Amino acid sequence: MSGPQPTIEPFDIDHASDAELAALHDLEVSLELEALPDVPVPPLAHTVASIRHVPPERVRQYWAVWDTDRSRMLARAHAAWDEREDNRHLAFGYIGVRPDLRRQGVGSALLATIVDHTEAAGRSTVWLDARSEGAQGEAAEGFLAARGLERKQLGRRSHLRLDHVDDALLQTWVDRAAQRAEGYSLLQWDQRCPDDLVEAFVAAKHVMNSAPKDDLDFEDEVFTVDLWRDREAALIARGQNLWTVAARHDESGDIAGYTEIAHLSTWPAMAYQEDTGVWHVHRNKGLGRWLKAAMLQRVKAETPDLERIETWNAGSNEAMLGINIALGFEVVDWWGEWQGKTEQIRKATGG
Ligand SMILES: CC(C)(COP(=O)(O)OP(=O)(O)OC[C@H]1O[C@@H](n2cnc3c(N)ncnc32)[C@H](O)[C@@H]1OP(=O)(O)O)[C@@H](O)C(=O)NCCC(=O)NCCS
Repeated sequence: MSGPQPTIEPFDIDHASDAELAALHDLEVSLELEALPDVPVPPLAHTVASIRHVPPERVRQYWAVWDTDRSRMLARAHAAWDEREDNRHLAFGYIGVRPDLRRQGVGSALLATIVDHTEAAGRSTVWLDARSEGAQGEAAEGFLAARGLERKQLGRRSHLRLDHVDDALLQTWVDRAAQRAEGYSLLQWDQRCPDDLVEAFVAAKHVMNSAPKDDLDFEDEVFTVDLWRDREAALIARGQNLWTVAARHDESGDIAGYTEIAHLSTWPAMAYQEDTGVWHVHRNKGLGRWLKAAMLQRVKAETPDLERIETWNAGSNEAMLGINIALGFEVVDWWGEWQGKTEQIRKATGG
């Protein structure tokens, strides 16, 4: 590149000031608007709350490139993982460089920094997300493929516009459950899972391991009550209303399936669909449709400021996509999940 090489500095995300987080937010939002100018972006308060409140097992390191007076963040990268018993080989990350600084080696230098950090922590595999369409997707995919990473899964981000929801369809799904799902009842709770249900709920969370992994190098996750309580506490501290609807198999008392929505006080127009899962033995009885319809009826009745719900699905997840598309979720964009072993990235980059 011409001129002095920009300096990559560690960015202490755990102790960052409000002004530093505002600079990070400005970079993130500008990358989103560059790709999708018409899709709403989170307000600053939402970004700040999401960064400040994470579960205690989250380990994260950020790096930044600043402009000369340190008011504008020009590029950033991070590597993060949760200290837990599964997936101890993985480091999750993202790299973002402002358009005027691209193709000057900054992204490559940030990737090399992630690789060094991952290896120093005794981990072997880097997992990066990248948009997979449009000009941004073309550059990101070209960048990652040339540096030894492989796209292991395609994910679909979609939005449900609340004013597009078909109330009659929701009611049909609820009514049909009376015949199709005899012997099951719905339970619901807000925020913290009740103590008398939490063991059964955490057992049910393992159903998420049956979502398609495609070619990802990703072990089944092990959920524990402690891990769940930490995650729940972080979400609540962020100002998220976490609503859960679960289907109980009455005879066994097992939780056969559940769905979760996080509705954000920091961004009242947006909610996130968190997990939805139904165990194999309880599938094809309309439980998934019942859970989602019951949740949406409540969301519509109780959150007048909400405009959209965002969800992510593996492109190969036909069962979940079938339900979501019928509900009216429309694709926003597609993202690739890219993985590379650090030695493979070093080989490709000569590092
Ligand atoms: C992907 C990104 C991080 C690369 O940053 P960068 O600073 O431009 O990276 P470098 O200068 O080190 O390398 C650029 C490489 O990207 C690839 N690339 C860039 N534009 C490309 C295009 N239109 N088509 C194909 N490959 C392209 C090439 O491999 C290029 O190398 P070259 O310049 O030697 O040909 C940057 O484009 C970006 O921030 N994009 C938006 C955010 C994003 O998509 N992040 C996902 C990555 S985890």
